[in-house]
Amino acid sequence: MAEAPSKVTTVSLRARKAGAEKIAVVTAYDVVFARLADAAGLDVVLVGDSVGMVVQGAPSTLPVTLDEMVYHTRIVSRGVRRAHLVADLPFMSYQASIEDGLRAAGRLVKEGRAEAVKLEGGVAVAELVRRLVGAGIPVMGHVGLTPQSVHQLGGFKLQGRTDEQRARILDDARALSDAGAYAIVIETVPHSLAADITRAVPAVTIGIGAGGACDGQVLVMHDLLGLEPADVDRKPRFVRRYAEMGKTVGAAFKAYADDVRAGRFPSAAESYD
Ligand code: KIV
Repeated sequence: MAEAPSKVTTVSLRARKAGAEKIAVVTAYDVVFARLADAAGLDVVLVGDSVGMVVQGAPSTLPVTLDEMVYHTRIVSRGVRRAHLVADLPFMSYQASIEDGLRAAGRLVKEGRAEAVKLEGGVAVAELVRRLVGAGIPVMGHVGLTPQSVHQLGGFKLQGRTDEQRARILDDARALSDAGAYAIVIETVPHSLAADITRAVPAVTIGIGAGGACDGQVLVMHDLLGLEPADVDRKPRFVRRYAEMGKTVGAAFKAYADDVRAGRFPSAAESYD
């Protein structure tokens, strides 16, 4: 019998820093897609606060609540066996105080069954990262384009264009790593900056819109699966689409409605005697 692949942990992920095989991360928000991602061998499943945009239809991640993150993390956890499970701390669950952050992360781990939490920021959240790690909660950081600061950043824009911005983002990544973060998401920055960070920190770096030098990559599942209505064609430059599920699902719904309206569904074989 083939040996079951071993569980992915913060320890096994750290061991892959600068290794030959990159780390593959995807978001998921429910048990159906969590099971599919886990069975496909993804290393990390991230319950992102992108749930606010791709599932709830909000224009940003800001409205997502801690209760919602706990709920989505718990249902995702039921589908994840081998992959490492990370959950986002949502906006204002950790920015007001260290105690807020500790309690919020505790809920994601205790009630949501997350194995690590992700938070945005660098120097400003370093003390919280230290306290979380001290409490036994692994932390994935997130620098560059940090969507919870969308209003501060003036939109979902490329970060790290100027020397000053580059230095600040590098400092943030160093602060996270020094505070004990085992991984750092680097979002929407020039490739060369992500490469500098990847070389500078012992934490594993996971890129999104940050080029190929990171230790791994993450994509939002709706983007990579093409889970958009058939008439929407919105694709940031850094997204690669591996399926056109929006078109497939739209066509299936239409075929079903056509069959019902024309009396073709259900057939005799689909009915009970
Ligand atoms: O919320 C999210 O899905 C994320 C990823 C895009 C990294 O933070």
